[in-house]
Amino acid sequence: KDNERANALLKQMTTEEKVGQLNQPFFFPVPVPGMKTDTVSYEDRVRRGEVGSFLFLTDPKKINELQKIALTETRLHIPILFGFDVIHGFDTEWPVPIATAASWDPAQAEAGQAMAAEEAGHAGLRWSFAPMLDIARDPRWGRISEGAGEDPYLGAAMARAQVFGFQGRPGSPRPFMATIKHFAGYGAAEGGRDYDAAYISEEELQNVYLPPFRAGVEAGAGTVMSAYMDLNDVPAAGNIHLLHDLLREQMGFKGFVVSDAFAVGSLVTQGFAKDRLDAAGRGAAAGVNMDMGSGTYLENLKKLVDAGKVSQAQLDELVRPILAAKYHLGLFEHPYADATDGTHVEMLAKHRAAERTAAARTAVLLRNEGGVLPLSKSVKKVAVIGPLGNSGADMNGPWSLTAKGEDSVSVYAGIKAKLQSADVEFAEGVQIAKAFPSSFDGLFGAKLETPWSGDEAASEMKKALDLASSSDVVVMTLGELAGMDFEYSSRSSLMLPGKQQELLEKIQAMGKPVVLLLFSTRPLDLQWASEHIPAIMDCYFGGTEAGNAVADLLVGDAVPGGKLPVSWPRAAGQIPVYYAHTESHKPYDSKEFTSRYWDVETSPLYPFGYGLSYSTFTISDLKLSAKSSPVNGAIKATAMITNTGAVAADEVVQLYIHQKYGSASRPVRELKGFERVTLKPGEKREVTFTIGHDERNYWSAAKNGWVVEPSEFDVWVGDSSAATLHDSFIVAE
Ligand code: IFM
Repeated sequence: KDNERANALLKQMTTEEKVGQLNQPFFFPVPVPGMKTDTVSYEDRVRRGEVGSFLFLTDPKKINELQKIALTETRLHIPILFGFDVIHGFDTEWPVPIATAASWDPAQAEAGQAMAAEEAGHAGLRWSFAPMLDIARDPRWGRISEGAGEDPYLGAAMARAQVFGFQGRPGSPRPFMATIKHFAGYGAAEGGRDYDAAYISEEELQNVYLPPFRAGVEAGAGTVMSAYMDLNDVPAAGNIHLLHDLLREQMGFKGFVVSDAFAVGSLVTQGFAKDRLDAAGRGAAAGVNMDMGSGTYLENLKKLVDAGKVSQAQLDELVRPILAAKYHLGLFEHPYADATDGTHVEMLAKHRAAERTAAARTAVLLRNEGGVLPLSKSVKKVAVIGPLGNSGADMNGPWSLTAKGEDSVSVYAGIKAKLQSADVEFAEGVQIAKAFPSSFDGLFGAKLETPWSGDEAASEMKKALDLASSSDVVVMTLGELAGMDFEYSSRSSLMLPGKQQELLEKIQAMGKPVVLLLFSTRPLDLQWASEHIPAIMDCYFGGTEAGNAVADLLVGDAVPGGKLPVSWPRAAGQIPVYYAHTESHKPYDSKEFTSRYWDVETSPLYPFGYGLSYSTFTISDLKLSAKSSPVNGAIKATAMITNTGAVAADEVVQLYIHQKYGSASRPVRELKGFERVTLKPGEKREVTFTIGHDERNYWSAAKNGWVVEPSEFDVWVGDSSAATLHDSFIVAE
């Protein structure tokens, strides 16, 4: 029906009007450093019919003003589709996506994006450039913050959930559209340097990088964003294999493709297209429907049509899904924003409680020697020390452009509110600002502080040490600024930036109980801390209620149950370290001639799927429904999980398999099932997983296609990728 309406409209449109629908200019409320300002006003662009969509405009009043021009002053009255990076919230910030992945709870991911769609929808936005589905196996890459980590199975589960969250489930759609991005392989940039080329074999693409996208397409994602970088020497925005063969032909994607910002124009910069005219032709030929920000289509597509290089039929193919999406979203019927001055406050009031619970569910307890955590509620004096302890804005995380720092709860405020009869004091101790110069100061996290002078730095460090020495417990709040885990925010080192390590070591030397709360989205080098600091919790950036959630966790009002969505390297030199690698001819446990570093263990510091609790669990009684299966059959694996500790808590039961031989060497372990369960003390539950066609299916280079092969399979069930509870079965011809 949407397509029919789009076709009817297409028949009335001139070439210019069609090209206008493919154009998506940026709307910058204030000039942004390094970005050219359009010589034509936004209003006139709309009047001329040259805007199919705007990005970055979030003010509902301005949205309505421009929408009114489109609806009343253009010939065909086609509404504008307003899109924005609604990555993990709008008025309320949900935890950053990698944190949500650490909850191992797709329902939580769905709820977060449903909240974001509701909040952004009020402002007149109908389209988010999320979820980011890039598999990331290199924590030097700052955008690891936006995805679900290293694993295709977990990534696919989070992809499905987020698309449903934004768009609604089949049968109960929301007037909002998701973008699955960045198609494809963006997370594999060489050296973890954002924007750099990726080289990915077809089998790795199919088996590792594409599964989340397949899940997103199956869940009905309305749009796909093509990536910036060269994939195997062809820029993604001009990559016919990616955008046509894989996306449209193989995955059956029917929506529209938007380029990443300026990427159609960048086909020239990347040494692929001769000039902007050629770039427009190449983007169109690959199937990029909408040109984000570069104006290359607007400037050149008509010329290409007039010259017979792009046919009217091709042009219609590009425009149709954009118009269909506008019909599907109900934009023709409900084009305007309905937000009032009170909406922001209303939304926060409505969503804070759920956000606090969500944030607490993402934290991963990495170490808890001697049961330092949870803290006693009758503790007398608590020192909160570190550059991330008193910042609400940083708790919002990267890509929280519409959230307000002052709405968010800092760790210091959260602990003070929780422990009202204790003396809770804060000292910053050291700064991170100096370690991260950014021209987008304040846009993507807290505003950078003015760096301290040498004397100030010495005196601030001393204040922190004095505070620590007079306290019963020290809560260290270290990590990275939110803006360091963002686009173009790659790092070569995983050390705590600035002088944080020095501060930590000095405070540890005092012999007080120390809890290290880590705020960052990439794993950091914790080799020293993992031996010297008794309690370590990875808190990511928990969003609006982060500080309250952390306080809940510290005293046991919430129990950590998150699990790592990435393997935690010991040092940067170990990268990439991911659990689903294939075996070398000399496995790692052989004594000599083995694949290893001489100066650091080969294993990660903390394995994928790892995370502790304040309770204890046993996972036992692994049973397979059969010891052999025909190729098209399925085996069921069941195991018993028991809460053997003293508090109600969550555990994530995980299933891993390994195909022992076949037409390719398969990873030593692959996640193929998981379930987060909540159990009271002493409670037990049976968990069942299916190992069928979908779990054993893989893309084989030798067969140049998908295979399910006869082989022998190992099965492990446990609480991380290092699970030891094991059985095996045979798949016969
Ligand atoms: O959506 C983003 C994309 O992920 C990276 N470049 C800019 C786009 C628009 O903000």
